[in-house]
Amino acid sequence: MSIRSEDANAFLDRLTGLFAAHDGKLEVEGRVSNAGHMLQTAANAESAGAEPCLIAAALLHDIGHWLRAGTPDAQCVDHRHESVGAAFLKAHFDTDVTQPIALHVAAKRYLCTREPEYFANLSPGSVASLSLQGGPMSEAEAAAFEADSAHVHAVALRRWDEYGKMSGLQVPGFEYYRPLLRGLMRA
Ligand SMILES: [Fe+2]
Repeated sequence: MSIRSEDANAFLDRLTGLFAAHDGKLEVEGRVSNAGHMLQTAANAESAGAEPCLIAAALLHDIGHWLRAGTPDAQCVDHRHESVGAAFLKAHFDTDVTQPIALHVAAKRYLCTREPEYFANLSPGSVASLSLQGGPMSEAEAAAFEADSAHVHAVALRRWDEYGKMSGLQVPGFEYYRPLLRGLMRA
């Protein structure tokens, strides 16, 4: 085993520990744990036939919530969990994984501008955090977002994210995705 693969496996062990540590408390809409929410989001991506990099992004998209100190976003401060998570992962994953994570909050702001029905169906928690995150994009912001080809994957992730908050839904656990993640990590 090379030193690099040991690093990769140690990092995957760290992710396993984070998921295990956050799999109890119902932190998302009072219905599902943060770990369960990300597992559901990954399952949604896989069911949609998404490519591995996007399944990984879905699986890890909110990991930034576990890496910052302080109060939850919805209470008073936007901790920019999307940036925190992407920065944490970039040592091991390429931008095809980290960029959709970094942009998934922007994608929410974008969809609220472009699709009134998306905003109307936002979960209460997502509505509460929206204003902290800047509210719906302006027309100019939305046009600039669309001009970046990376927005397509970020928007796809955001849709799986919104449908990943079901109470009691049984989906594969973190270890199911370990081979997929290892295949994406830098060798
Ligand atoms: Fe999420």
